[in-house]
Amino acid sequence: MCGIVGYIGNNAVEEVLLSGLKSLEYRGYDSAGIALNDNGQIDVYRAKGKLDNLSRVLNAQDFSHKHISQGIGHIRWATHGGATVENAHPHKSNDGKLVLVHNGIIENYKELREELKREGFHFFSQTDTETAVHLIDREYKVLRSLEAAVISAVSKLRGAFAFCIMHHDEPDKIIAVRKNAPLIVGLGNNENFIASDIPAIIGKAQKIVYLDDNELAIVRKDNVTVKDFNGRLINKNPEALNFAAEDISKRGYKHYMLKEINEQPDIIRNVLARRMKDAGSPVATDGLDAGQLFAGVEKIEIIACGTSLHAAMVARHVFEELTGIAVTVEAASEYIYKRVLTDEKTLCIGISQSGETADTITAVKLAKEKGAKILTVTNRIDSSIVRYADGVLPLEAGIEVSVAATKSYTAQLVSLYLLAIAVAEVRHSAAPEVLSGLKQELLELPAKMEQVLGATETIKRCAEKYCGNKSFIYIARGINLASAYEGALKLKEISYINAGGYAAGELKHGPIALLDENMPVLAVLVPGSRTYDKMISNCEEAKARHARLIAVTTEADNAHEGLFDEQIKVPAVSEILSPVLLNIPLQLLAYYTAEALGREVDQPRNLAKSVTVE
Ligand code: F6R
Repeated sequence: MCGIVGYIGNNAVEEVLLSGLKSLEYRGYDSAGIALNDNGQIDVYRAKGKLDNLSRVLNAQDFSHKHISQGIGHIRWATHGGATVENAHPHKSNDGKLVLVHNGIIENYKELREELKREGFHFFSQTDTETAVHLIDREYKVLRSLEAAVISAVSKLRGAFAFCIMHHDEPDKIIAVRKNAPLIVGLGNNENFIASDIPAIIGKAQKIVYLDDNELAIVRKDNVTVKDFNGRLINKNPEALNFAAEDISKRGYKHYMLKEINEQPDIIRNVLARRMKDAGSPVATDGLDAGQLFAGVEKIEIIACGTSLHAAMVARHVFEELTGIAVTVEAASEYIYKRVLTDEKTLCIGISQSGETADTITAVKLAKEKGAKILTVTNRIDSSIVRYADGVLPLEAGIEVSVAATKSYTAQLVSLYLLAIAVAEVRHSAAPEVLSGLKQELLELPAKMEQVLGATETIKRCAEKYCGNKSFIYIARGINLASAYEGALKLKEISYINAGGYAAGELKHGPIALLDENMPVLAVLVPGSRTYDKMISNCEEAKARHARLIAVTTEADNAHEGLFDEQIKVPAVSEILSPVLLNIPLQLLAYYTAEALGREVDQPRNLAKSVTVE
């Protein structure tokens, strides 16, 4: 949520900032702005809406005669104050000398705002951020040092903040501050970068310094100093930046989402190659000692949000089936506001693609305080959630740019299947032939996924036929209830069509009242599964209410051809692994529906990829 960038060096500052913001657009797109230090004069440019609007503002400027040596930039996902130019960052002090961009939420901003107003500071926005500007400015006027002013001000701020700050009177530096919001420093050759996330510095910086909470970096053109909030020097080891521009390119696809959907077979192939020699060998868990982590564990709690929560729902079935350990699944935002009955016999698994989701991080911290062991499953081993972990399961799905999660979900599922198999192997909680059968089937999954991705005509046709409908109902049972939820989430978030996922057996307890000829019902089915016959009965009930029926099922499903208006089929697969394969047509259906409606697939309205506020 919100992306910030900073640059100090000899290249065209406005261009470096813009391209950095472009690669952080997934973090928000309500407004954008940059501040440039032109030989001592600070100029701020801001625009409402997407980054293109800011580009237009900048294109109208002539920078050729300017001597710009540093700048900061911001892309906003509005929290406090609407998406207006006044609320866009950077915000500046009343004398125009200090500018700041912020990601996070300052919780005590109201008290501070009143205090600063009484002292004569004028506010021009509704943001919490402007409070930080005036507070640092107030301290600066006393201390006459930006570093000292920042250190003094942060001790008065509550909440989450990553800042980039520049001051007219100290043009040799940008100060970067991190507390509960991600921030990195990229090191270049006689130039340095600051960013919320790695994509902004890929192809620009050679090395990276990860700031920890309660740290600030004084970033100059030729050196970077890191200190804690008491002003004590901290030694940081810069790490190599192991990403190339290719990692964040669209590779010829129209949208990142389509590219990421199509990357899934190879991602799974790589994960399997690293963790499993063949169906006869035990599963390796990449440095994670499954035996030790699960020793003495009597209960598993899985905590996550959104799509990751759906992966948790699948994992619950898999862990219960293979390990016999009781599993609870909870939305992180709910977990943190109840009595938490967690103890040292509990393993808490926090699943988060970004590793920066505030709710999930808070929930994991809480579980840790109660004595639970923590396992995090994340695509970003450099992320905040990892700090609280006793073990980390990396997804290695590559950078996911599209706001709608696709490849990370599939990688979460497969990683969790492998972990459950590894635990079952260590604890001898499932028959060896069951486990080797599963492993064999996992190895066959990438080729089956490719088959689905290679035959999208029916899915495209359905998308075009049904994209005019106002609502959809997705139904499933058992392990695929998560598929119904995930399919519905994907459809609503990128097409804006109202879609709800329901346990098929619940339909008759209320939602059936919604059914008529204008309500498509999409059923996720696995022929031969223990719930198949009951699913068919639920589909019959829907048909009897004139609903249009779409089946997402396997090739083995031929018994009820006449029942469905449409059938989207994937290769035959066992029930336990079916969520991986059945989800792909659901991703594609959402994608082609959004495309048919002309939606902004990669950047759906009101959303941001990394949800760093609670
Ligand atoms: C949906 C989506 C979101 C995220 C959710 C959690 O497509 O992307 O629902 O799944 O915000 O994000 P992470 O996994 O980063 O914690």
